[in-house]
Amino acid sequence: MKKYMEVFQGTAFSSKSPKEVQILKDHLFCVNNEGIIEKVVAPADADYQALLAAYEGEESFHRLAEGQYLLPGFVDLHVHAPQWAQSGTALDIPLYDWLNTYTFPIEAKFSDLDFAKTVYNDVVSTLLAHGTTTALYFATVHKEASLLLAEICAKKGQRGLVGKVVMDNPEQTPSYYRDADTQTALADTEEFIVAVKELAKSTKQGVYPVVTPRFIPSCTDDTLKGLGKLAAKYDTHVQSHCSESDWAHGYVKDRFGKHDAFALHDFGLLRDKSVMAHCNFLDDHDAELFAETGTAVAHCPISNAYFANSVIPIAHFHSKDVEIGLGSDISGGFSPSLFDNARQAVISSRMLEDGVNPALPAEDRGVPQSRITINEAFYLATAGGGESLSLPIGRLQENFAWDVQIIDTKTAAAKLPIFEANEDLHDVFQKIMYLVRPENIQEVWVQGEKVHSRQK
Ligand code: GUN
Ligand code: FE
Repeated sequence: MKKYMEVFQGTAFSSKSPKEVQILKDHLFCVNNEGIIEKVVAPADADYQALLAAYEGEESFHRLAEGQYLLPGFVDLHVHAPQWAQSGTALDIPLYDWLNTYTFPIEAKFSDLDFAKTVYNDVVSTLLAHGTTTALYFATVHKEASLLLAEICAKKGQRGLVGKVVMDNPEQTPSYYRDADTQTALADTEEFIVAVKELAKSTKQGVYPVVTPRFIPSCTDDTLKGLGKLAAKYDTHVQSHCSESDWAHGYVKDRFGKHDAFALHDFGLLRDKSVMAHCNFLDDHDAELFAETGTAVAHCPISNAYFANSVIPIAHFHSKDVEIGLGSDISGGFSPSLFDNARQAVISSRMLEDGVNPALPAEDRGVPQSRITINEAFYLATAGGGESLSLPIGRLQENFAWDVQIIDTKTAAAKLPIFEANEDLHDVFQKIMYLVRPENIQEVWVQGEKVHSRQK
């Protein structure tokens, strides 16, 4: 019998499609040395009993306890790692003021590597403890501190995709916090890409460099052009903010006479591995361009409620074949939990569909067919994130990475209201999605390695 590195027995939930969750009851998950799910075996399959007999009692065998369930690890498509230091603060002012008054000053402090180390160690551990196994990070303009974040992901076992932030436009960035000039911005980015690619060789789960123009206003034309070339040269992921707020959207229209999507495309920044955060003002032409180029949307529902007063039409974009995942947008969004963001994604979509003010005439009250279900929000946090990044993650099926969270519904500190022995598993799934707290996340694994275990 083939020797697997780990074999897990338990009930798992995994997205089959955006609308459908597959329930894998009492399945065996056989994980190979590379941390890939090599075989998924159902109880009725011929080799189930033989595999059980061979592995039971072995150190590599893990049977989930009663009340425990497997979910894919979450993929957070938009996190500003340095902003963890200001999470939960200053969310009552508009984006432009928030950036200039709070965010740029705090990010500037990451020239201090000791400070960076403290914050980055904490944010990576916190995200892992919340079930986030892959994160697409904005760091800061500092090359060294950005590399430090990638090193911390590598060490803690998280699949980190990290961008050194680029912002060189003197008209839209403060003198104390910007790249010195175009040449320096591009040279630092290239050195960063090469260093992270080298670092990746020593990791099992992979860490990835990401070309990261902060957003169009913060960059000069030459720099945007150079970044597009670097992304092509090194075949990297690309991330930015796209059509987020009234101000940012209007600024790009004034400067280029077009929407962010087309301006970014002109600079070679919309690629299959591109992820654009927010996208509140995307129209159908923009969405079609996203679908054509394989560019994904990082949906940040908590942040959008604060900075954009907006709900993006997820159901509509799905109907246009746009790839979409979920982002916390720490700290535009206050929560490091993708459970919280999945819940907000559903709530926001309901508000969009039903309208918020019953005093309005019925025809002004909302947009029909906007609602998404909790299944779709789960998809965004898992499989949708994996597809957006073009990585085999986010699903518990063969040839995908063993990135999982073990949810304990019976944790004393946060017991879920499950009272019947044979409760319908669809209901259990929904209770998990709506009620789980960090206390319920018992273990987290990335690429077949345990990276977090909750102290009882
Ligand atoms: N646009 C440019 N920078 C930022 C940022 O840090 N957060 C958010 N939400 N939007 C941005
Ligand atoms: Fe952001």
